[in-house]
Amino acid sequence: MAAEIIDGKQISADIRAELAEEVKKMKSEHGITPGLAVVLVGEDPASQVYVNNKEKACLEIGFKSIKHVLPAETTEAELLALVDRLNKQEDVHGLLVQLPLPGHINEDRVILSIDPDKDVDGFHPISVGRLAIGVPGFVSCTPAGVIELLKRSGTELEGANAVVVGRSNNVGKPAALLLLDENCTVTICHSRTRDLGAVTRNADVLVAAVGVPELIKGDMVKEGATVIDVGIHRTDNGLVGDVDFEAASKKARAITPVPGGVGPMTIAMLMRNTLKAAELTLGR
Ligand code: GUN
Repeated sequence: MAAEIIDGKQISADIRAELAEEVKKMKSEHGITPGLAVVLVGEDPASQVYVNNKEKACLEIGFKSIKHVLPAETTEAELLALVDRLNKQEDVHGLLVQLPLPGHINEDRVILSIDPDKDVDGFHPISVGRLAIGVPGFVSCTPAGVIELLKRSGTELEGANAVVVGRSNNVGKPAALLLLDENCTVTICHSRTRDLGAVTRNADVLVAAVGVPELIKGDMVKEGATVIDVGIHRTDNGLVGDVDFEAASKKARAITPVPGGVGPMTIAMLMRNTLKAAELTLGR
């Protein structure tokens, strides 16, 4: 039987519509408009597209968008001073600095300078630590989107064997922690894993976030698995993921396409984190 295609574009639109309703309530009941500040340094074309998409999503949902575009020659001290100002600015509930930064700026120092209560990217070590010990905090947007796709596609997570292929700080590791929190039995694989297929064939839930085009072949997928493909690669045959979609969809119960799977979820989760950041200020 052909696999169910998990429509990330639709699910992302549904979530953003749900959030827009909550924003209306937040405005009418508390007089607060959630605000997201995005800082871009330099003129990287991909980053410009990402930042513009974030601004557009904010405005559609009813958030305030505060965009700062700085020249590539901006010093680290100047950037840190701006982050410090945005940390203190009351109409800024969420704050992110678009990566990558120019080579002369230390990304770790910049991430550390962000107020963890405004860290809607979930990149601050305090956010990562909160996730690791299972206390409330901001979760990085792409792995949060992976979990949301699993839940909204009716995937049984309790007790399931979940295999994450890839161990990056922003996707693989947090995805594994989130799956553990959902009571999955979690295995993390990577480029040094011996006999990758032997591990992935045991996966009821398979998350591919390894950054190698179509590494996951059909014979590496368990019959009836749910497959979430985080990869996206431009090839001569168009965009492909980390999974051989044609072959894997003959085995899987449900699978995300590339594009239109995980990609659109990242912004929806960023919007959700920003609303959460605004809600955090209510109790103060
Ligand atoms: N560059 C590519 N993706 C991201 C992201 O999710 N957040 C930030 N800050 N930079 C990025």
